[in-house]
Amino acid sequence: MDATLGAGGHARLLLEAIQPGGRLLAIDRDPAAVAGGRIQLSGFEPPATVVRGDFGDLDHIARSHGFAQVDAVLFDLGVSSMQLDDPARGFSFRGEGPLDMRMDPDNPVTAAQLANQLPERELAGLIRRLGEERWAARIAGFIVKRRPLRTTRDLAAAVEAAVPRAAWPRDIHPATRTFQALRMSVNDELGSLGNGLKSALSILTPGGRMAAISFHSLEDRTVKTFFIAESKDCVCPPQQPVCTCAHRASLRIVTRRPVLPDEEEIRANPRARSARLRVAERI
Ligand SMILES: C[S@@+](CC[C@H](N)C(=O)[O-])C[C@H]1O[C@@H](n2cnc3c(N)ncnc32)[C@H](O)[C@@H]1O
Repeated sequence: MDATLGAGGHARLLLEAIQPGGRLLAIDRDPAAVAGGRIQLSGFEPPATVVRGDFGDLDHIARSHGFAQVDAVLFDLGVSSMQLDDPARGFSFRGEGPLDMRMDPDNPVTAAQLANQLPERELAGLIRRLGEERWAARIAGFIVKRRPLRTTRDLAAAVEAAVPRAAWPRDIHPATRTFQALRMSVNDELGSLGNGLKSALSILTPGGRMAAISFHSLEDRTVKTFFIAESKDCVCPPQQPVCTCAHRASLRIVTRRPVLPDEEEIRANPRARSARLRVAERI
């Protein structure tokens, strides 16, 4: 299963690897990715099953499409280049577009709603927590003063004004973390990831593997913590003398440390520079 179809690069490689006869279920919550994937992945026998849905629900999606169990699940987290590079989707501070950031256009919450309607303290908390941004309070103050913000440019300009020049990060745009925080909140990315990992575990065959590629520390921590917890026989607090949780290990961690892209890969695909791959096997 490819839980994050995107532009279909991984899905195609997975399909090629399971020929002849292997079946692939590919899902994405973005209808544009699903429409593209249906065309791109149709030439195989059997053809890939391409479904629009949230991977937080992937066990139900799999069962209702004839995949009672699967041998592998891949999560390639975050936004796709297709989404990022389309100004109309509002994910990027490069280029002007509506402040949207929804992966699923039927999602009722947009980034504009968060930026324009959240109380200042909540907005600051969100930017601090999900963006790991130390200037969060000042940025939230500037956003509130400039309301209503309508475009990605409005948001980028508010952040640029809020963060003192001398404190601008050297390697990324000063608005990167704020955009990331709003995007993660709009799409409830950590909530979906937690549910997705649990769902994947529930449909993996023994010996089957799940792999997750994360692009920032909160995602990677979620994956790592899940893998560690599910690879232990007991998850009681350490100070508790007797185990009462009855938890049993269901995963074996394959990658003790995350796999990182090498220099050659980063040169060929600079967006891979912060990627971290973790893999675990169903016991
Ligand atoms: C980094 S891209 C995947 C790129 C893909 N591996 C490729 O080879 O082109 C991530 C994709 O996952 C989708 N996505 C993110 N969160 C999702 C979720 N909770 N459920 C379903 N799809 C999700 C996004 O819409 C996006 O298309």
